[in-house]
Amino acid sequence: MSQDFIPAAKPIIGAEERAAVDAVMASGMLAQGPEVAAFEKEFSQVMVDGRASVAVNSGTSGLHLGLLASGVGPGDEVIVPSFTFAATGNSVALTGATPVFADIELDYYTLDVAHVESLITDKTKGIMPVHLYGHPFAADVFTALAEKHGIDLYEDAAQAHGAAVNGKKVGTFGKFGMFSLYPTKNMTSGEGGMVTTGDATVERNLRLLRNQGMEKQYQNELVGFNNRMTDLHAAIGRVQLTKVEAWTAQRQENAAFLSANLEGVGTPKVAPGAEHVYHQYTIRVSEGRDELHERLRSEFNIGSGVYYPVPNHRLPSFNRTEDLPNTEIAAREVLSLPVHPSLTQDDLERIVTAVNTIVKAGA
Ligand SMILES: Cc1ncc(COP(=O)(O)O)c(C=O)c1O
Repeated sequence: MSQDFIPAAKPIIGAEERAAVDAVMASGMLAQGPEVAAFEKEFSQVMVDGRASVAVNSGTSGLHLGLLASGVGPGDEVIVPSFTFAATGNSVALTGATPVFADIELDYYTLDVAHVESLITDKTKGIMPVHLYGHPFAADVFTALAEKHGIDLYEDAAQAHGAAVNGKKVGTFGKFGMFSLYPTKNMTSGEGGMVTTGDATVERNLRLLRNQGMEKQYQNELVGFNNRMTDLHAAIGRVQLTKVEAWTAQRQENAAFLSANLEGVGTPKVAPGAEHVYHQYTIRVSEGRDELHERLRSEFNIGSGVYYPVPNHRLPSFNRTEDLPNTEIAAREVLSLPVHPSLTQDDLERIVTAVNTIVKAGA
C-alpha cells in the first residue's frame, strides 16, 4: 500500500480545462464575455433548476453583492452563524449592516432555528444560514420562519453545489444563493462565485454592481465594483460543471465507506430528506481532536482540517462576547478527513486504519 501523502483536498484539473483556457487565450478576449454568459446559463440549468445565475470574481464578492442587491445596508441586521468561514459575517459587515451571530445545532452544524427566532428584532432584514460542509440547512423551516416575520432568507451555499432538501436544490430557496468556485470546493473556476436568484430586481442589481453600476457603457446607474469573472475562469468552470455530478457521487461513496468503518468517533449525520454533497467529511472527536489531527499527519502522512477552530464572533475582526455554547463545542471537536473524489480504495482504507488506530490508543 502506498504511503504517499493524502491531502485533505485536491482540485482536479484535467486536459479539458487546460484546452478550454487555451482556447480563450487564443481568442485574445480574456475579460468577461461569451464564456461567462455561457457558464451562467449552464450553471442555471445544472445547479439551480433554471434560476438566474450571475458570475462574479469570488464567493465573498457574491455574498457581498447579493446582500447589496437585496437592499441590505447600514442600520440593518442580518442573522448569521458564527461557526462558518469568516466571509459569511464579513460580507454582511461590508454592506454597513450588522451581523448578528446565532448558535448552531450539533447534528448538522447549521443554524439553530429557535435561537435564530429569538434574535429577530425590528432591525432584522434577513437570515443567512450556511449549507455547511455540503449538508443543507433546513431550508423549508427557514423559509417559513422568514415568511412568518416578513424578512428575507439568503443562502450561503459556498460549500454545497448540488445539495438539496426534499429534492429541491439549494440556491433556489433564498432571495439569493451563493456558490463559491474556489479551487478546494466541489467544483472550481480557479477563483469565482455564482449568485443565483429568482428575483429580477436582485438579478439586475447584481449585474450592475459587478460592473461599476453600468449596463450601458459610461451610463452608470449605481456606484458599483469591478467584481467581474473573466472568460478564462468561466472556461474552467464550464468544464467542471460537466463533471461535478460524478464527483459528488464519488464523494458520497467515499463518505459511506468512511462512516461504515470508522470507530470511536462521531460520523456525519444526514437529516431526513437532505442530500449531503460532502464538501467536507467532518467527524466529532470529544477528546484529543488536535492530537488526532497532528498524528494523522506525522505518523500516517494523511492531511485533515479543522473547519473552523475560532468561532467568527470571537475573531479579533468582530471581537464579540455572545455566548454560543454549541458553536464552542463544534470548534473544539470537529475534524474533517479527506473525502475528495481522487481518493483510491487504498487511501480510504489507510484513513480508516489510521483514525481507528489513533482513537483506540486513546488520542
Ligand atoms: C461558507 C463560506 N462562505 C463564503 C466563502 C467565500 O468564498 P470565496 O473563498 O470564493 O470568496 C467560503 C469559502 O471558503 C465559504 O466556505
